[in-house]
Amino acid sequence: MTAPTVPTVTLLNGLNLPALGLGTASILGDDAVAAVKAAISAGYRLIDTAENYKNEEAVGQGIRESGLDRDEILITSKFNKAWHSVDGVRQAWQASCERLGVDHIDVFLCHWPNPDQDRYVEAVKGLKALLDDGSIRAIGVSNFKPTHLQRVLDETGIVPDLNQIQLSPYANRADARAWAAEHGMVTESWSPIGGRDGALRGDPLLAEIGGRHGKSAAQVVLRWHHQMGLVAIPRSSNPGRMAENLDIFDFELTDDEMAQVTGLGKGAEAEVVDSDNAGH
Ligand SMILES: NC(=O)c1ccc[n+]([C@@H]2O[C@H](COP(=O)([O-])OP(=O)(O)OC[C@H]3O[C@@H](n4cnc5c(N)ncnc54)[C@H](OP(=O)(O)O)[C@@H]3O)[C@@H](O)[C@H]2O)c1
Repeated sequence: MTAPTVPTVTLLNGLNLPALGLGTASILGDDAVAAVKAAISAGYRLIDTAENYKNEEAVGQGIRESGLDRDEILITSKFNKAWHSVDGVRQAWQASCERLGVDHIDVFLCHWPNPDQDRYVEAVKGLKALLDDGSIRAIGVSNFKPTHLQRVLDETGIVPDLNQIQLSPYANRADARAWAAEHGMVTESWSPIGGRDGALRGDPLLAEIGGRHGKSAAQVVLRWHHQMGLVAIPRSSNPGRMAENLDIFDFELTDDEMAQVTGLGKGAEAEVVDSDNAGH
């Protein structure tokens, strides 16, 4: 099978980001090197990592061994709460670059707001300084609620390019999507196909819709993210499932099907990690 061409979404500052990338949380060492190489070979051009995943070295090695130029791949990485200051974010960026073996990171993200330490606004100012001198190509945050984003905007005038949040049909985060839409920020979905828990992928509605299109439940979910305007970063270390997850750009869900999948949302009952009380 030839690798599909992945469409892009344009971030506020003009960077074109692939609409689907590879998540790498908990894929370590040689497994991460192999996963990144397999993903790039399958057509992935966006790889998501983090200081906290302890695999940036392996991700960098996988990219180097892929045979593609660094500039053909977009890397997103994230820093922990210890670095929430303007100088700290620069140190975190330097350390991530060294581990990855690169001289810039495409999108660097504040991994969690950690409102208990009350320094996420400073962290975003640090990201803006990196953007201004070309060290990064876009400002990312992760697990920010509208209240956190509004405070950043009110105190700095900055709308981040990207917010990476837990988002799937069961937890479709209408409030976060609304804030993003109003401000032109792109939302990127983590645990887009439900994470380790297979409940979403086993939902009968998704099997039924997939049956009509010759697609799996995971593919229906990833296509839903795409048609919602979301960037998704499904994780797999299995080359067959990596290719399956990328193979969603040759069919379209109808308006009715989109509404049905959105209708799976559990609203306030959805199990979402509360970023006012969790994070690292
Ligand atoms: N910013 C944050 O705080 C945060 C938090 C969590 C995750 N993330 C990012 O988001 C990425 C994705 O989230 P996630 O890893 O939690 O969950 P996910 O991508 O929704 O689900 C991953 C699970 O689905 C399985 N899988 C993948 N493709 C499949 C398919 N086509 N059919 C059936 N099963 C499939 C994988 O197993 P196999 O490997 O066996 O295929 C794995 O167990 C992470 O890797 C990470 O990069 C960010």
